[in-house]
Amino acid sequence: MRIIGTGRAHPAKVVTNAMLEGFLDTSDEWIRTRTGIQERRLISSERLEDLATEAARKAIEDAGLTPADIDYIICSNVVNEYITPGLSCIVQGAIGARCASVDVNAACSGFIYALDMADDRIRSGKARNILVLAAEEPTRMVDWEDRSLCVLFGDGAGAVVVTGGDGLICSRLTTTSKLDCLHYVRRLEPTPYITKEEYSAPMYMNGKEVFKTAVLSSSRDIKVLLDKSGLKPSEIKYYVLHQANFRIIEAIANWLKLDLSHFPTNVERCGNTSSASIPLLLDELAREGKLQKGDKILMSAFGAGFTTGACIIEWTK
Ligand code: COA
Repeated sequence: MRIIGTGRAHPAKVVTNAMLEGFLDTSDEWIRTRTGIQERRLISSERLEDLATEAARKAIEDAGLTPADIDYIICSNVVNEYITPGLSCIVQGAIGARCASVDVNAACSGFIYALDMADDRIRSGKARNILVLAAEEPTRMVDWEDRSLCVLFGDGAGAVVVTGGDGLICSRLTTTSKLDCLHYVRRLEPTPYITKEEYSAPMYMNGKEVFKTAVLSSSRDIKVLLDKSGLKPSEIKYYVLHQANFRIIEAIANWLKLDLSHFPTNVERCGNTSSASIPLLLDELAREGKLQKGDKILMSAFGAGFTTGACIIEWTK
């Protein structure tokens, strides 16, 4: 597969660190130094499906296609207001496409999993043009009285359109089941037969543990992909990494002994937008004219699970 179009949509509401100081025992200084985040964009009056639809329309237009040309939709999503149908199905109707659609949940790594699935489907000849979306509202999973979590996240939707081609150089997906350090549990409807104990609770995260695991797993994935492709670290124009914390990105840049100019970021403006962070950043780079034909881009993400996904692509647009 190769990427032929990108798009993104952000919520309108910008929430700065100073605004959080108004109702949380926190400070701009703590948030900036621990995470690099200065502000984030949060869902207020919008619905996530509207952001997903806007990102999808922009990506299809950028690809020079119409919704009728799309023959499969894959959407990475962790939560939205609907448990069912999937967000991909809602977007299919909203853009007026007629193709099959499916959601994937691999937490913050979901966009890479979705891209990899799209590649398989194109290789098998089952689809020609696939819309790959990531739409997330992680700010709805956290307790807004818990300063250690709510300051970290933001909402948004990013999309790409892929078609047949030689844009995917290599990829790697891993899953290590580890529920104790990051999870979010919602109680389902009761039935007369439920006898087990159940609970609902906002997201739980052991930040220090996730930080360590993220740096180690992302560095390992990057090394495996560089070895597999035969590329030197400096031959990658941009490392488009999951935007969870600037310090994680900095640690990976130091480990690779590369200048931070290889590591574009949006975490300072968007916060951690879960699986949407990579396509949001990719669209920014593309629209700012920073990607040239032939550029090698390495994308690497990690998330609850614990899941990781990474790939090297060549920009062919
Ligand atoms: N404002 C002020 N103080 C805060 C705070 C906030 N928003 N949040 C937590 N604190 C306090 C804590 O209460 C704790 O205080 P104590 O030491 O008195 O108990 C202290 O700050 C914790 O600081 P520290 O341990 O130095 O935090 P940290 O350097 O580990 O940073 C995270 C915390 C969450 C930013 C960091 O661990 C992280 O980014 N982890 C990875 C998260 C991630 O990537 N998640 C996404 C997975 S997809």
